[in-house]
Amino acid sequence: MALHRLGPENAQISPEEAISGLGWADLAPPDRPYMALNMVSTADGKAAVQGRTVAISSKTDRAVFHNLRTQADAVMAGAGTVRSERYGPLLKTDELRAKRVREGLAPDPLAVIVSGRLDLPVDMPLLQDPSSRVVVLTHSHGELSGHRAQVEYLRADADPFDLRPLMRRLREDYGVRSILCEGGPTLNASLLPYGLVDELFLTISPMIAGGADALTIVAGVPLPELIELERLWAMEAGSELYLRYRIVQR
Ligand SMILES: NC(=O)c1ccc[n+]([C@@H]2O[C@H](COP(=O)([O-])OP(=O)(O)OC[C@H]3O[C@@H](n4cnc5c(N)ncnc54)[C@H](OP(=O)(O)O)[C@@H]3O)[C@@H](O)[C@H]2O)c1
Repeated sequence: MALHRLGPENAQISPEEAISGLGWADLAPPDRPYMALNMVSTADGKAAVQGRTVAISSKTDRAVFHNLRTQADAVMAGAGTVRSERYGPLLKTDELRAKRVREGLAPDPLAVIVSGRLDLPVDMPLLQDPSSRVVVLTHSHGELSGHRAQVEYLRADADPFDLRPLMRRLREDYGVRSILCEGGPTLNASLLPYGLVDELFLTISPMIAGGADALTIVAGVPLPELIELERLWAMEAGSELYLRYRIVQR
């Protein structure tokens, strides 16, 4: 499995090498974690096929996905994503765990789930894993039951809620300096317009899905202002493109 880096300089590189030493923790502003968003899209901009990403994500994309989890203190996803993708423990191998330690991070990332209604399937493997630490950001006053993971809650006072104060609390109370956000589109729409996302990793899958109602990487109403991106790198693997952008903060 090899990636061909087109820029900044031409190179053959493995996903393990490409996604290493990104140093996000050092880039964190004082009042929130540094945040990278990772998404995959078809050539016609669709973010899911029949409610899942599996059909548009290749073996190399999954390697990039799992290596990105070695770069951040926490990995975050919205309730819709954890429901449809049925999240398991975040790290699949001890090799990935060892890579995190080499990068100066805790062996396992903190899992962060954003859920307004706290309607989460407690039987999903992540919540049944006793060694997983999960923080749920929610509007609900309830608590999950029947899980074996270590679950804590950060509560918001409205639904949908403003994620800015909760990002500050993740930084101040949990020491989270960097977050990898794995979507989905609804959560992205609660992050991008508020200046909470610093980078976008976008895989362009060489497929066309069609469908006017199919999800794109950002749901909801049009953003109040266009968000400008600066390309940090571009890589290819076969017909697939891997783009890394910096979000230009205004
Ligand atoms: N292409 C990709 O890279 C990619 C990545 C991730 C997901 N997906 C796809 O996206 C689909 C899921 O989309 P989605 O938009 O439903 O997922 P989502 O963004 O993961 O989750 C949406 C849910 O998150 C909670 N939420 C997010 N922001 C909130 C806020 N500000 N306040 C309160 N609650 C908030 C709500 O939870 P409650 O419902 O609990 O209230 C909301 O229903 C799936 O088909 C998945 O496969 C694709």
